[in-house]
Amino acid sequence: MGTGKGEVKIRKMTEADLQSVKGIDKELAGPYRYVSWPVRVEAHWWVHRGMPSFVAEIEGEVVGFVLGDIRGTDYATDMCAWIDMMGVSPKHQCKGIGGMLVGAFCQECQKRKVKVKVVLIEDDKRLVKFWKSIGFQKGNLVNYEK
Ligand SMILES: CC(C)(COP(=O)(O)OP(=O)(O)OC[C@H]1O[C@@H](n2cnc3c(N)ncnc32)[C@H](O)[C@@H]1OP(=O)(O)O)[C@@H](O)C(=O)NCCC(=O)NCCS
Repeated sequence: MGTGKGEVKIRKMTEADLQSVKGIDKELAGPYRYVSWPVRVEAHWWVHRGMPSFVAEIEGEVVGFVLGDIRGTDYATDMCAWIDMMGVSPKHQCKGIGGMLVGAFCQECQKRKVKVKVVLIEDDKRLVKFWKSIGFQKGNLVNYEK
């Protein structure tokens, strides 16, 4: 796909992408990110690396990622794919790259015959708009708290 700044290539994530993925999150979250996040990315990779995770590249630079896994039984759900973390570098947002990453993820999950789920904060209108614009609908999981 053309973005005006080169072609976007979506490909499966590899171990060599870990630093770039952590770098993008740093750009997105700034210095106040929980210190544990880079560890979570590493842990996600080492636990779920056989699962569908993708990166977006422009001219060899990783500019976005989506990390997911396939699991069943959580919250008594059927086996399904969960999008656990995703991000697009701020300078490359709103060019369709997030949509392309989720598209690749969903295609892989279709082959594996599993539905895709993502958890959001409902008040985040921009994010809700993003997921709706790429065909996601509200599911039936709810969150109870006290
Ligand atoms: C959400 C995100 C991955 C979308 O990636 P993207 O490449 O910008 O997405 P697309 O270009 O395919 O779609 C753009 C739409 O995403 C939505 N969006 C949601 N959050 C956004 C953000 N922080 N910045 C820009 N657009 C955002 C908007 O509705 C936008 O539509 P608009 O251009 O009409 O305003 C990206 O904005 C991002 O990395 N956000 C911060 C990290 C994050 O929230 N991750 C958790 C996702 S569950």
